[in-house]
Amino acid sequence: ILGVMLLLMIAAGLGLVTLLVVFFKPQIRQYGAGGVCQSAATLNGKTVLITGANTGIGKETALDLARRGARVIMACRDVDKGEEAAAGIRGAYPPALVEVRELDLADTCSIRAFAETLLREINQLHVLINNAGVMMCPYTKTVDGFEMHIGVNHLGHFLLTHLLIGLLKRSAPARIVVVSSLAHNFGWIRFHDLHSQGSYNSGLAYCQSKLANVLFARELARRLRGTEVTVNSVHPGTVNSDLTRHSTLMTIFFTVFAMFLKTPREGAQTSIYCALAEELHAISGKHFSDCAPAFVAPQGRSEETARRLWEVSCELLGVEWD
Ligand SMILES: NC(=O)c1ccc[n+]([C@@H]2O[C@H](COP(=O)([O-])OP(=O)(O)OC[C@H]3O[C@@H](n4cnc5c(N)ncnc54)[C@H](OP(=O)(O)O)[C@@H]3O)[C@@H](O)[C@H]2O)c1
Repeated sequence: ILGVMLLLMIAAGLGLVTLLVVFFKPQIRQYGAGGVCQSAATLNGKTVLITGANTGIGKETALDLARRGARVIMACRDVDKGEEAAAGIRGAYPPALVEVRELDLADTCSIRAFAETLLREINQLHVLINNAGVMMCPYTKTVDGFEMHIGVNHLGHFLLTHLLIGLLKRSAPARIVVVSSLAHNFGWIRFHDLHSQGSYNSGLAYCQSKLANVLFARELARRLRGTEVTVNSVHPGTVNSDLTRHSTLMTIFFTVFAMFLKTPREGAQTSIYCALAEELHAISGKHFSDCAPAFVAPQGRSEETARRLWEVSCELLGVEWD
């Protein structure tokens, strides 16, 4: 009898929770959506580059900035997927000035070729959004032998930004947005084993790369003082996108709790805010979430770690960047 009563109580509890969720769905959605970029700024005549713009947060960021009049360069590793996304953007907003270019951040030759062509073909770049990312993939290496998370999420974007920094400076005022994550809180830079050759945990490798994003933005901001090029990092929120594709558990979790998560459009708001909000024109080296300043973990505030990561990144990529 006790067992039956327990089962009945569990069923009643679940029923109550379901009823509450259904009843308060609009409020839950509104809370889950987070901050919205309220700026009405337009971007006519401005050029924007977004990495990983064929899906998720990047695609929604591209659509929003195209609606505001920007010429948007969608840098995608899969050109077909990119063209499909661009067609979707043109379908939603026919005057959109969007174009797709091939960029594989897991291959420094691809990054260099991309930048070389871009520098030949455009003479202004006002916003760079380092958005592309991978999460919790099985242990793999980039073409250059870097562990995939640190290779794509940090080193690939480090090299891309290095190659385009002159153009951004010439186009000033210009902004760089680095899409990081709340996950940086759980990361630390393992200088003794940056590529996880000793031991590998896909979650920790992701956290390390997202911490590297925060440190990169802070160190770059320090080095860009006085140039009218600003750089800030962003946590987009927990967004129902393709990012969980490598983890079945995370995919199930994201599917079950989809209602509590942000849509990609909602997840794009803070990137958009950092790319154009008037009040941020002189703000650099900060971290944002929900279109507001956000907490940075102590390890993300360490100037020493940021400098060391900068030096190690330059060494690994064979570049000099003062
Ligand atoms: N979703 C979240 O809850 C969440 C939370 C915090 C931070 N973020 C960050 O937000 C950013 C965007 O993520 P998302 O949620 O929009 O994920 P997504 O839908 O999976 O989009 C990731 C994008 O990155 C691209 N990409 C992956 N590897 C690449 C490579 N080697 N070269 C070029 N592009 C590559 C993907 O291209 P393909 O489609 O061709 O693979 C895709 O366009 C990421 O940096 C992520 O870390 C997301």
